[in-house]
Amino acid sequence: MMMTNVNTKKAAAMFVMMSKKNTLPTPKSPGTSTADATRYQEECGSCHLAYPAKLLPARSWHQIMTTLPDHFGDDASLDEGLQAEILAYLSAHSASNKSRMMKGVGYDDVPLRITELNFFTRKHRKIPERMVQGNPEVGSFTQCNACHGSGAVKGKFNEHTVDIPGFGRWDD
Ligand code: HEC
Ligand code: HEC
Repeated sequence: MMMTNVNTKKAAAMFVMMSKKNTLPTPKSPGTSTADATRYQEECGSCHLAYPAKLLPARSWHQIMTTLPDHFGDDASLDEGLQAEILAYLSAHSASNKSRMMKGVGYDDVPLRITELNFFTRKHRKIPERMVQGNPEVGSFTQCNACHGSGAVKGKFNEHTVDIPGFGRWDD
């Protein structure tokens, strides 16, 4: 009598444990939540657009995120928590070595500028300086959104929708 009771309790406890286990949320990989993405936009989108993570490999984002006090001549320091969260976000969404942006980039190379990637310079080599550095509404190739519009922050770059301020559509 006693035994049965214990066994029933045990079985009930097991059942509760198992059903609890089945209702646990799927664990998220670091850096993949919407909050992480929002934080990235907020913290890295004030001086230039928050560059789509897929434009550089994880090793580059790591290098950039661990040298923020000396960021291309600016101080872009963040507190440790934000730095770790944003690095996790960038790594999770970074370029794979097979991406077209990575053409000609060696596995050991750590490019720090999207604008210096072979892929980038090849795609932009026909654009004359007066439309970029000499153009007060652009100033530099680092201002992707000036020509590629609001899709740039989402990683949408299309040669057919380029609109260079003061010059208009790119007809190649
Ligand atoms: C205080 C202003 C400032 C903030 C904040 C800032 N940056 Fe920058 N960033 C710069 C400047 C200045 C450059 C160089 C721009 C140029 O050469 O025209 C730059 C360039 C870059 C480049 C290279 C662009 C290229 O391809 O030439 C990357 C990548 C970059 N920043 C990532 C980040 C990330 C990630 C963050 C957030 C942690 C961040 N930036 C926050 C000022 C800032
Ligand atoms: C001065 C305007 C301008 C700026 C600034 C600019 N681009 Fe472009 N981009 C162009 C033009 C024009 C083309 C099309 C070139 C061609 O096909 O001849 C292009 C093409 C591209 C392409 C290829 C698109 C395709 O359809 O294959 C990519 C990717 C791209 N740009 C990314 C970027 C990124 C990333 C930045 C910022 C780091 C940037 N661009 C900044 C003008 C610009």
